[in-house]
Amino acid sequence: DPRVRINPSILAADFVNMQSEVERIATADLVHVDVMDNHFVPNLTFGPQMVGRIQDVSPVPLDVHLMIDDPDRWAPGYAELGAYSVTFHAEAAHDPVALARRLRAIGARAGIAVKPGTGVEPYLDLLEEFDQVLVMTVEPGFGGQSFMPETMPKLHALRQAVAARGLDVWLQVDGGITEETIVTAAAAGADTFVAGSSVFRGEPADRIAALRAAALPH
Ligand code: DX5
Ligand code: ZN
Repeated sequence: DPRVRINPSILAADFVNMQSEVERIATADLVHVDVMDNHFVPNLTFGPQMVGRIQDVSPVPLDVHLMIDDPDRWAPGYAELGAYSVTFHAEAAHDPVALARRLRAIGARAGIAVKPGTGVEPYLDLLEEFDQVLVMTVEPGFGGQSFMPETMPKLHALRQAVAARGLDVWLQVDGGITEETIVTAAAAGADTFVAGSSVFRGEPADRIAALRAAALPH
């Protein structure tokens, strides 16, 4: 089903072998790239220079997830280097709609992300402004945490709003996605699935295929 997208997170990859790691996930839809700044989240990964090099060698386009303060200042740079999608956090952005418009004008898909404690109600009437909404299913900052099912009502609300208005906004979940939890997230309305440890822990091509199969309607 082309409506199911599996985006492995390279946060779980071996950072010193990034080229061979992205080559192992060539059957993915997009490569999910977690940018962290030690301020918005208590962890630090990499910035535009590294993301640009990953893009140079990746067989599939990049889905950049910015867990940083002041995305209004930094997000356009990731769109300019050619990321397919750039997602910033609602909690950090000063003007989410203006920022999404700038990202689209540069040519990237614009995404807005919410932490587990952040509601989606303020954004339901603004969905036309975004290409994707990322509902965090763990507290952002680290891989390998457990999926939080209490975030699922947000997926239901988003799916209902998207369907009611006939929009094509991708609904993404990120954190603790496994062959079991993906079933719950898909049933709640998600169509785009980020998975870090569950993909890189095994043979990535097999794990991607298994996640894809599990996400299809049962
Ligand atoms: C967490 C990151 C996630 C993380 C997911 O802050 O945004 O993308 O890599 O990792 P897993 O799938 O291991 O929970
Ligand atoms: Zn992420």
